[in-house]
Amino acid sequence: MTAENVIIERDGHLAIVTVNRPSKLNALDDQTIAELDATFVSIDADDGVGAVIVTGAGEKAFVAGADISVLAKQGVLDGKENSRRGQALTLRIENCKKPVLAAVNGFALGGGLELALACDVRFASSNAKLGLPEVSLGIIPGYGGTQRLPRLVGSGVALQMILQGDPIDAQEALRVGLVNGVFEPDELMAKCKEVANRMVMRGPTALSLAKQAVRRGAQMSMPDALTLEADLFGIISSTDEMKEGMAAFLEKRKPSWLRK
Ligand code: COA
Repeated sequence: MTAENVIIERDGHLAIVTVNRPSKLNALDDQTIAELDATFVSIDADDGVGAVIVTGAGEKAFVAGADISVLAKQGVLDGKENSRRGQALTLRIENCKKPVLAAVNGFALGGGLELALACDVRFASSNAKLGLPEVSLGIIPGYGGTQRLPRLVGSGVALQMILQGDPIDAQEALRVGLVNGVFEPDELMAKCKEVANRMVMRGPTALSLAKQAVRRGAQMSMPDALTLEADLFGIISSTDEMKEGMAAFLEKRKPSWLRK
């Protein structure tokens, strides 16, 4: 599949994924969702990619939401299908084996914020606006926002954002824990790359299993989640990666991970 609305660039071990419909503020239509989905399938399978940064084309928007011209035509059945399609994409991103960072470079509204919520870490530009405005369109968030936002920032803050529908600015997003940091627009990508490259220095299998422990554990009771952690700890203890990481420390050198 040749992507038209998604640009994939490589910078060392980083994959930079840019949603590219700037004339529509990068709104997610069916084609863009399908291209993003295919992008993450190929990135997950590519051992040369250590971490991913998702951003939006242009200076105004990360992603201004699901494409309202598509949503406007939906009925009961395709409404549910639209939701399921967006949920499948956000689940694929959440389950990606590599760390995924969102560089929120402007409006992240509706499906755009839901896309960012599926990423592991969010950094925002100082001019970003983040929100779930669906109720002002007479719908509800449908790409995971009603579930991921309260789990990230707590139900009080999430319910105010979801029920009020007004976006919050980057500083407020930082205050409530929705983003991990705020940077000037021209510094945002460099900062994201700096953090992503620090992650890429770590053991690739360890990154994947640590992410799995957090992601899957969040859906379990504490005893089950601790069992999962111990199981994954056992698995990582059987790897050459662990031997290399420990040996490198003891030999006072940098570890040499198996990356292509
Ligand atoms: N779906 C479809 N098209 C969208 C869109 C969306 N979610 N968000 C923006 N666009 C389009 C606009 O229709 C416009 O297209 P046009 O030039 O062909 O008319 C273009 O992107 C630029 O947007 P515009 O509204 O002119 O920019 P603005 O700076 O005046 O306002 C926003 C920016 C983000 C405040 C405004 O575009 C907006 O409210 N968008 C919808 C956000 C939303 O409700 N998202 C959740 C959807 S579930």
